[in-house]
Amino acid sequence: MSLGVVILAAGQGTRMKSGLAKVLHPLGGRPLLRHVIDTALDLDADRVVVVYGHGGEAVIEAMGEPRTGWVLQEQQLGTGHAVKQAMPLLDGVDRVLVLYGDVPLTLSGTLHRLLRSADEGVLGLLTMDVDDPAGYGRIVRDAEGAVQRIVEHKDADTEEKRIREVNTGILVAQQSWLAEWLDGLNNDNAQGEYYLTDIVGMAVESGMPVSTSGPDAWWEVAGVNDRVQLAQLERIFQRREAERLMRDGVTMLDPARFDLRGTLVCGVDVTIDANVIIEGDVRIGNGVRIGANTVLRSCQIDDDVCVLENCVLENAVIGAGSRVGPFARVRPGAVFERNVHVGNFVEIKNAHIAESAKINHLSYVGDAQVGQRANVGAGAITCNYDGANKHRTVIGDDAFIGSNSALVAPVTIGEGATIGAGSTISRDAPDDRLSLTRARQLVVPGWKRPTKKK
Ligand code: UD1
Ligand code: CA
Repeated sequence: MSLGVVILAAGQGTRMKSGLAKVLHPLGGRPLLRHVIDTALDLDADRVVVVYGHGGEAVIEAMGEPRTGWVLQEQQLGTGHAVKQAMPLLDGVDRVLVLYGDVPLTLSGTLHRLLRSADEGVLGLLTMDVDDPAGYGRIVRDAEGAVQRIVEHKDADTEEKRIREVNTGILVAQQSWLAEWLDGLNNDNAQGEYYLTDIVGMAVESGMPVSTSGPDAWWEVAGVNDRVQLAQLERIFQRREAERLMRDGVTMLDPARFDLRGTLVCGVDVTIDANVIIEGDVRIGNGVRIGANTVLRSCQIDDDVCVLENCVLENAVIGAGSRVGPFARVRPGAVFERNVHVGNFVEIKNAHIAESAKINHLSYVGDAQVGQRANVGAGAITCNYDGANKHRTVIGDDAFIGSNSALVAPVTIGEGATIGAGSTISRDAPDDRLSLTRARQLVVPGWKRPTKKK
């Protein structure tokens, strides 16, 4: 049976108080709507259609999603009206599942259960029992327990308001029947809207059975209306991601202080300390330790690396056994071979650092190549920018760059070369020799330190 999915996303989202469309607000680093589209694609839906409201062109552009169809609902006349707008694009599918662009965390297992409960000719509703049903549509059943209809909170009488089984809004229906029911909707109700929920009574009238199933957890059907709810769902999402990683063998010293805003693939025996943030695609090998307060953005971290506290790494590759930080900034294009040591207050950008090289303190190394076992002393920097263009610095194997040296690129430091501390090197330094630029040290005879006048 082919499946079409409609995702309703035409609501204004005014309570977000934002210039950004509600469904584009990120959860776990991805727009809310992205989560829902991914869920739909996960179900192997044959067609996915998003119903958007005015101003939604920004959403289409931001999502850049070729696998979904987009339909404009010019005026928000109700959920039934919204689904109806999508029907022309769902011609020919057997069943239609309705999801919501601001309900991001529905599990595919729950939806599979709903789809199974509603085989051919059955209308399937996802419902749930809640302690406080205020605001929700209520599921009205007859004496035998069969679903009769849904009554919206604002249309419910006192008796109906006591019903604690509520409509989550998610449902699945046979496409041909759904089209017919939607055509028959009216807006003769407390809100003057075309209610999608009215199709339930219509199904019962035409003798169609209605089945219900439920989610495993409340947050699967929780919508985001304001930033408080967004933050609540963010915490739930993060707790689940942390638990998944721990079950996969990652040690988290505090799973409540971990944020995944991309994808993380870890080897065995990885330890992640508190307040680590992962963005983009990050791959971590075996036996790696990530120190507290570290941000890893689209990085590859090989086996047995230790990233100490307070580091920011972006678009970098860190070779096996390397040690980074504390307080290191590793910028895009940094590639470390094995056993590299990059220490505190060191910034590396677009640089290849060969095996066992050490840059331990207070350095800037940019647009450079650093040879094997080279040692870049404290405060040494590459002057890669002349104010207009960037130039490369090449440091040979086993070179030793004395502290506080400035290497003015383009420049090459030979293999085994030594640069005297405090030098400004603007010409190539030969292999195995000492190069330095340094004013001679003077001792001034007869000099006396001035004293304060009385
Ligand atoms: C709806 C259900 C209610 C259910 C509740 C669960 C109806 C009539 N009622 O009520 O039974 O308990 O959800 O949260 O369906 N939307 C559009 N276009 C519209 C109207 C709505 O795209 O014209 C979208 C909104 O962006 C929103 C969703 O549909 O994401 C739900 O709409 P909303 O008006 O909030 O429905 P509720 O009153 O919450
Ligand atoms: Ca709502």
